[in-house]
Amino acid sequence: MKIGVVGSGYVGLVSGACFADFGHEVTCVDIDEEKTAALCRGEVPIFEPGLDTLIERNMAAGRLSFTTDLAGTVRGSEVVFIAVGTPSRRGDGHADLSYVESAAREIGAAIEGFTVVVTKSTVPVGTGERVEEIIREANPDADFAVVSNPEFLREGAAISDFKRPDRIVIGSDNPRALEVMREVYRPLFLNKSPVVEMNRSSAELAKYASNAFLATKIAFINEIADLCEKTGADVQNVAHAIGLDKRIGPKFLHAGPGYGGSCFPKDTLALLKTAQDYEVPQLIVESVVSSNDKRKRAMGRRIVHAIGDNARGKKVAILGLTFKPETDDTRDSPAIAIIQALQDAGAKVAAYDPQGVEQASMVLTDVDYASSPYEAAQDAEAVVIVTEWDEFRALDLSRIRDCMRDLVLVDLRNIYHRQEVERLGMKYVAVGR
Ligand SMILES: NC(=O)c1ccc[n+]([C@@H]2O[C@H](COP(=O)([O-])OP(=O)(O)OC[C@H]3O[C@@H](n4cnc5c(N)ncnc54)[C@H](O)[C@@H]3O)[C@@H](O)[C@H]2O)c1
Repeated sequence: MKIGVVGSGYVGLVSGACFADFGHEVTCVDIDEEKTAALCRGEVPIFEPGLDTLIERNMAAGRLSFTTDLAGTVRGSEVVFIAVGTPSRRGDGHADLSYVESAAREIGAAIEGFTVVVTKSTVPVGTGERVEEIIREANPDADFAVVSNPEFLREGAAISDFKRPDRIVIGSDNPRALEVMREVYRPLFLNKSPVVEMNRSSAELAKYASNAFLATKIAFINEIADLCEKTGADVQNVAHAIGLDKRIGPKFLHAGPGYGGSCFPKDTLALLKTAQDYEVPQLIVESVVSSNDKRKRAMGRRIVHAIGDNARGKKVAILGLTFKPETDDTRDSPAIAIIQALQDAGAKVAAYDPQGVEQASMVLTDVDYASSPYEAAQDAEAVVIVTEWDEFRALDLSRIRDCMRDLVLVDLRNIYHRQEVERLGMKYVAVGR
């Protein structure tokens, strides 16, 4: 099939490359000319394991191409996916739909022949109708259907998530559009990936409900971790015990510095705004958002406390800037809030991250970026593990200790055992144990 993907970001690139790998003919369109030119040269602008080889293979096979020509792409496609950003709107936290709306307008103007327009971007319930309206206004004669197909991939494991998803959600009541969508995902049908069809509103809401639930699990275990610290319990044992219950499950029960990333913070907030509009309070999600917001700065205070309640002029080394390992994405990463809290307290911050420096340096100021954990740790009072990159799992702790004056390891991901750190003469601060 001929597929157009509007937006060559994390979701658009992964979806486009995977659809091409299924054998479809895919064109990814972006308004960013520099990004598109780089992609045409075979340069992948984001870090996502396996994505560069997947793109290279499918470009070489002639199934994947990149362009800024949206109209031409739409005219040549049976299905057009909208995969542009839906960040938090400045000021009120609603999902900013301006990118989706402008993409819909341009798509509408270009439609020729029956076209299925699919919102893969995470959009508030009811957006499908708005997209439909915009296309109709732009092109009253257009023959089209608007389908919701929210994306559930995780950065860092995006390709395997896309190719072996827990489920594919398709929201539409239009039989013709459903046929087309089944054809798009046919290779996954053959793999027996569950495809669940529902009306468009349900599909749109399912995405927000899913992210809000996962955020709730994280916020929950983080609050339990605080209680563990006061009571002598160990949150890792508690999480293990409750996670073995099949009704609960072990995932998303790792205590840490709070959730971040390009999805949970903005999607939980957007869900609350939708709930306000419909006058249906979501008290649980409200508490989750507030608990998580407080947690990030609280982690900053925890570090200051660990270095004697006075950070002024002291150096702190931050290991990990991305919101999770195996990505270069630092959007709403806990590391950003923690670094800002430390700087507010007067600390000097050095940081190391295998992939996240370029993005972090766009939002942070006065940070010394190091080329290794050991360089970051030089003369620092505390080394703080914020992101659980594999390369932080087996640090040479005695080398770290030799770099540090006052020997505090703040392990916000609970990677190390207290005994192994303390045996080396370092102070150890973890989360919930
Ligand atoms: N990143 C994730 O892990 C993830 C997972 C699931 C869902 N989502 C959702 O998918 C959507 C996209 O997220 P992302 O992380 O890929 O965003 P992103 O910011 O990485 O990419 C968006 C791209 O769209 C382009 N764009 C904006 N307006 C355009 C237009 N009119 N025409 C063509 N291109 C345009 C931008 O230049 C950018 O390259 C969001 O709604 C997000 O919530 C993201």
